[in-house]
Amino acid sequence: MMFRRLALKTACLSGALALTGLPMASWAQAGTVKVGLVLSMTGPFASTGKQLEAGARHFLREHGDTVAGKKIELVIKDDGGLPDQAKRVAQELVVNEKVQVLGGFSLTPLALSVAPIATQSKTPSVVFVAATSSVIDASPYFIRTSFTLPQVTVGVAEWAPKNGIKNVVTLVSDYGPGLDAESAFKERFTLNGGTIKSSIRVPMRNPDFAPFLQRVRDEKPDAVFVFLPAGVGSMFMKQFAERGLDKAGIRLIATGDVTEDDILNEMGDVALGVVTSHHYSALHPSPTNKKFVESFKKANGGKRPNYMAVAAYDGMRVIHNALKATQGQTGDALLNAMKGQTFESPRGPVLINGQSRDIVQDVYIRRVERVNGELYNVEFDVLKAVQDPGRRR
Ligand code: PHB
Repeated sequence: MMFRRLALKTACLSGALALTGLPMASWAQAGTVKVGLVLSMTGPFASTGKQLEAGARHFLREHGDTVAGKKIELVIKDDGGLPDQAKRVAQELVVNEKVQVLGGFSLTPLALSVAPIATQSKTPSVVFVAATSSVIDASPYFIRTSFTLPQVTVGVAEWAPKNGIKNVVTLVSDYGPGLDAESAFKERFTLNGGTIKSSIRVPMRNPDFAPFLQRVRDEKPDAVFVFLPAGVGSMFMKQFAERGLDKAGIRLIATGDVTEDDILNEMGDVALGVVTSHHYSALHPSPTNKKFVESFKKANGGKRPNYMAVAAYDGMRVIHNALKATQGQTGDALLNAMKGQTFESPRGPVLINGQSRDIVQDVYIRRVERVNGELYNVEFDVLKAVQDPGRRR
């Protein structure tokens, strides 16, 4: 009798939800919360996908996968780095897998293609990477735990003119985050008395840097400022040295995407002395980070975490904290509980701004140095609690 009544009740609810056209995510499995991760596990950005997966799994390993009586289940789908595929797998996650939370999005175009799905299905979605400032506006269901390019660029743009760099050529990847980095650098550098000699944009996929580096060499600036998405930096560095730009006395300054921890060690001596600004270094000297790096390496065959792993680790923390606050409720309640969180991340103290849904964090100025035989980004200055300056709010 009890079972029949329950079955009837469930059938009525299913009918009502089906009429709204929304997936019945909250009713999928009472004791489980499914988190669907859209990650680039194959293709040119696979190193990012792997760091993200490792970071997300590491959080659950360290903090447990059960919260408020619900087991968090990760469902991972590969988008191959392609927007159409990202959209398709996000749809599958929401409609077939009935995930209650989405996360991932290794590139800006992938986040933009998933945004309408997050909005229509009202699925809270944690952006682990996509760092073009405006990505957060693409869906009211987006929360970001990574960074924005304007947020991290202004540090090096302020440092450079105070350290003998008077004129610069900018060289960025020709899509959202690159354009954000280019304009943030220009604005802050010229405000501080610097001059931009020229601005070069290189293709986002499979760039051949040689002709662009030749142009930089011919222009003889004090420095070249570079943004390239994670994973591409070592190829750039190799060609920078091959073209002899270092020998020609042209300094390299960049956002930390170029000297990211996953690939920094492969770059060799050409990377020594490169100054960048960014929100995370594996060498960040806090007890929280030391513990994080040690346990991450242990669980991942000695691999160093980069800022992608940290964003996914913190993304899972935001989900975990929110589920605790809502006692396992999902949907809008969960989204609201994600807003306004503050915690100590391996990168330092962070806040998820309740209004903007974006992360507020410290940005460090770092120099590549050899420490105990390995290359690291060594922090030597900090800008505290930086908001995304990329949008007026
Ligand atoms: C992006 O596509 O938004 C993106 C990807 C990798 C980065 C930074 C930004 O390192």
